Amino acid sequence: MNQNNINQNNIKSIVALSNVVKQFGEKEVLKGISLTVKPGEIVGLLGPSGAGKTTMIKIVTGQLEATSGKVMVDSSSTEMGMMMDSLGLYERLSCYDNLKLFAKIYNIPVERIDEVLKKVGLSEAKKRPVDKLSKGMRGRLALARAVMHEPKILFLDEPTSGLDPTTTNQIHELILEEKAKGTTIFLTTHNMAEAEKLCQHVALLHEGKIIEYGEPKEIGRKYNHQKKLQIRLYDGRCMELLNNKEAAEKVQDYLAQELLETIHSTEPNLETVFMELTGSMLE
Ligand SMILES: Nc1ncnc2c1ncn2[C@@H]1O[C@H](COP(=O)(O)OP(=O)(O)O)[C@@H](O)[C@H]1O
Ligand SMILES: [Mg+2]
Repeated sequence: MNQNNINQNNIKSIVALSNVVKQFGEKEVLKGISLTVKPGEIVGLLGPSGAGKTTMIKIVTGQLEATSGKVMVDSSSTEMGMMMDSLGLYERLSCYDNLKLFAKIYNIPVERIDEVLKKVGLSEAKKRPVDKLSKGMRGRLALARAVMHEPKILFLDEPTSGLDPTTTNQIHELILEEKAKGTTIFLTTHNMAEAEKLCQHVALLHEGKIIEYGEPKEIGRKYNHQKKLQIRLYDGRCMELLNNKEAAEKVQDYLAQELLETIHSTEPNLETVFMELTGSMLE
């Protein structure tokens, strides 16, 4: 790996992929992925189903080997935490016993079990078997297990997929708490609002390629072609103005008349950018 890639902006990357290709038989699923992740950030891999998100996580976590390209991860496998569909919980075991099994494998003191169960709001349900949990509770238990050994890097593969808004928000809070502790988080999602809320950087993945990368807001600005302003007046009138001198005069007028209620720029969100780049929706 080229040193410049790893030491971009003089902060050592915790993950660096360079031209990673993954083939399953004839099918090329990742077509030359390059990406660096800085310690302590939440990076989002955003793309529709089948884009290659899970494959990428599996390669970074060592569950799959890349066909070609370089993968650098500055973390041992025991310092990684994972929340992935495929790593299922034991259905017949209770929440507590699921975590106890994991604690044994990782040499985690048993006191930590109650601590994380409390953190994810499952103290009351600790004796309940997993097959009696709601989808949201399962999600929280999976997250509890992923963070139990205080990993250096946390991989979350669609952590809120199919969950209701309340549970989704709870999971977002827990993810932000982990970030506040300095944990690096690698998140996949097809929910652009989630990415905009949580991620410092996002990579838009489409058919095995990163088609855009950056800060969510910066991407919005980059694709803000029309740069229109949306305004609303106290008399109920709404209008879109171009970003020009004529609009400035109008706005000044409305301000002087104390008529201006709201004014907003109209940069596109990630969903719109994705649509523009690919012609298809994320979900
Ligand atoms: N083990 C495998 N063998 C063959 N094809 C696979 C395998 N795993 C994933 N794929 C294919 O790779 C593509 C990307 O899959 P995946 O990484 O799961 O996408 P995502 O997580 O973005 O939905 C899909 O077309 C999927 O069918
Ligand atoms: Mg997936």
